[in-house]
Amino acid sequence: MLHNSPLSTIGFKMYFTLVTGASGGIGKALATECARKGMHLLLVALPGFELTELVSQIRKTYKVHCYGLGVDMSEAHASQEVYDWVKENDFNVNVLINNVGVGSKGEFDKLSTCFYQKQINLNVVTTCMMTRLFLDDLKRNAPAHIMNTGSMGGFYALPNKAVYSATKSFVYSLTKSLRLELANTGVQVSVLCPGGTDSNEKTIAINKDLKGIAKMSILQPDEVAKEAIDKMLKGKSRIIPGTVNKICYHISRLVPEFVHNFFIGRAFKHVHKHGYSEGVHQVPEPKMAKVAN
Ligand SMILES: NC(=O)c1ccc[n+]([C@@H]2O[C@H](COP(=O)([O-])OP(=O)(O)OC[C@H]3O[C@@H](n4cnc5c(N)ncnc54)[C@H](OP(=O)(O)O)[C@@H]3O)[C@@H](O)[C@H]2O)c1
Repeated sequence: MLHNSPLSTIGFKMYFTLVTGASGGIGKALATECARKGMHLLLVALPGFELTELVSQIRKTYKVHCYGLGVDMSEAHASQEVYDWVKENDFNVNVLINNVGVGSKGEFDKLSTCFYQKQINLNVVTTCMMTRLFLDDLKRNAPAHIMNTGSMGGFYALPNKAVYSATKSFVYSLTKSLRLELANTGVQVSVLCPGGTDSNEKTIAINKDLKGIAKMSILQPDEVAKEAIDKMLKGKSRIIPGTVNKICYHISRLVPEFVHNFFIGRAFKHVHKHGYSEGVHQVPEPKMAKVAN
């Protein structure tokens, strides 16, 4: 017996929520929260055990339809590969969650050009191309939603995370503009802006050393996901999970830039103890493989 949410079956047609970067961290939590609400799922992540395991776990636990595709989304034609897979299988997508992204830390000239290329591809190019490719289908399948994962880092200048924060500013700006452009199309566009989240081993290690408000602001991926999906379904524009993060955001709008630069400098000081980091995941060879159909 399938649990259907109002968004997953309309008339005789079955609709899917597509989540990228779905096999770990915030993406896994977003997928699980959607499944809990009875939404059918298409999960995209790097090929591997985590993805296949999550697909079968969701099918068993939530009794929704769930399929997975293993793709390295930093590759040039990855978004087209995902779109072709959806079309070949006649999946109707009415919720697109562009979550995949990679963080980093280290002085601008210490990280490789190859890494920056991958980070910009994942955070910027993939978000833009997936949205472009799926938009006509989303309009046809309306009421529909797009939720792009940005970051609170997209609101500020972040030394030692310059490219990351620039990519997240792009996601924020793209989403806000598209929201206005699509206002009368039945496609609601939201941007999810998490603050620090215990999403994987590296972030947990860094967050453990935080103090004061920075420590109080840290959320678990399932807390981020619950607030994100509830607010996305209500059509909210900017979703900042957690009370401390929301307060910090609103206060930062009121104070001059040199004040947030001072506090951001303090909050990020400890991060450098953990050295340089070019994201968390090594992108594997071969470049693309389907894992669960
Ligand atoms: N964590 C935070 O503190 C934080 C704060 C603000 C915003 N964010 C944003 O939230 C989003 C998720 O972050 P997270 O911390 O949850 O990330 P994460 O723990 O690193 O998980 C990333 C997910 O993306 C997949 N992935 C990584 N590289 C990929 C690639 N090249 N192609 C396809 N899939 C790939 C991973 O697959 P595998 O598991 O198979 O490797 C995993 O499922 C990102 O956009 C990030 O920028 C995170």
